[in-house]
This record gives sequence, structure tokens and C-alpha cells, in this order.
Amino acid sequence: MEVREAVLKRRSSYAISSHAINEEELRRLVEAMRLAPSCNNNQPWHAVFVRSEKTLNALKGTLSRGNGWARKSPLMVAICSRAEDDCCLSDSRAYHLFDCGLAVGQMMLAATDMGLVAHPIAGYDPLKAKEILGIPSEYVLIALIILGRPGKDVSGLSEKQLLAEKERPERRPVGENFFCDRWNMSLTLS
Ligand SMILES: Cc1cc2nc3c(=O)[nH]c(=O)nc-3n(C[C@H](O)[C@H](O)[C@H](O)COP(=O)(O)O)c2cc1C
Repeated sequence: MEVREAVLKRRSSYAISSHAINEEELRRLVEAMRLAPSCNNNQPWHAVFVRSEKTLNALKGTLSRGNGWARKSPLMVAICSRAEDDCCLSDSRAYHLFDCGLAVGQMMLAATDMGLVAHPIAGYDPLKAKEILGIPSEYVLIALIILGRPGKDVSGLSEKQLLAEKERPERRPVGENFFCDRWNMSLTLS
């Protein structure tokens, strides 16, 4: 799959099946994260790949009500980092969250390329999740990535989720947050 095709195809889908992710798929997900750029090649990301039924069930107990759809997932990845493991430069440039985002972005495109769904979420209880996974308190559990094969079951989804499942949620007009030459000067694309 071309990169552009993966970019266009990637979606935060809700309908996933519980069918397991295989070793080759897992290897490629890890590869995509490992090869991401990071400030000074610091690689601040730590990712806990949760695959055992027992730990998956415990982690699913931390999901917010709106994220019940993620209970079918056969693989949840907890993305963690801490500021001291990456560049902290002038003017509040703490790069660890940025670098983790880059690694996860690559991983999500790799998942799309393999026909998998990779849906990032922030809706979970971070302290409970950290305790379940043994993540030291000084690390930020930035996001959980819900992985699975595309499924069909959309039962239990809200109206908003059903709508988003059908059609990608709208993006802001380009000129609102893409500027040309100067802050607030809208970028126009011909
Ligand atoms: C940091 C982050 C947190 C998110 N948290 C949730 C979440 O808790 N539940 C959920 O269903 N989707 C969550 N999403 C997915 C977004 O809602 C989704 O990316 C956005 O609506 C755009 O849709 P698309 O990814 O299909 O293009 C999250 C995405 C990101 C990047």
C-alpha cells in the first residue's frame, strides 16, 4: 500500500473483531514504532503490548463508558513516556509526547497497511491502568491504542459513534489552522 493510500484509509473505527493479531503483524507494529524519528534519537517511548486474556480483561475494566466498543480488542498497546527521557529545550519544548506521537502515527499507518484497525484512545482511568500494567508512577500513560481486525458489530455505539463509523469526522477548514508566512494568515491551497 502506498503511504498516501494508508493515510487516506486510516480510520479510528469502532467495529473490531476479537480475532487475534499474529506474530508477524506484531513484529511489524513494533518495527514501525522503533524506526520513528525522535529528538537526539532518544526513543522515549515505552509500549506495553497487552495480549493475555487476564491482563486484557483487567485493562478493559479501566475504559470509560463511551469506550465499551474497545472490549472486543485482542491487543491493546499502552504508550508511556516521561519528560526526562527526551529533549527538554527552551520555550517549553518537552519533546517526549511529540516523539511518542510520531512513533504511534507510524504504527497506526503500519496497522492500516496490514488491514488492521488501530484506534487511539484517551478515555480510560490512567492510574488504575498503570497499576494493572506495573507502569512506574513517574511515567505518563499517554494513550491506549486499541488494535483489532475490522469487524461488523456496531451494537452499543452512540449516535455520534455510529455517524463517525460511517464517515470520517470533518476536519477544520485548512485556513483555520494552517498559516502561510505569518500567524493567522490563512494558507490557501489552489
Ligand atoms: C489522543 C487521542 C485520544 C483519543 N481518544 C479517543 C477516545 O477516548 N475514544 C474514542 O472513541 N476515540 C478517541 N480518539 C479518536 C478520535 O476521536 C479520532 O481520531 C477523530 O475523531 C478523527 O477520526 P479518524 O481518526 O477516524 O480520522 C482519540 C484520538 C487521539 C489522537
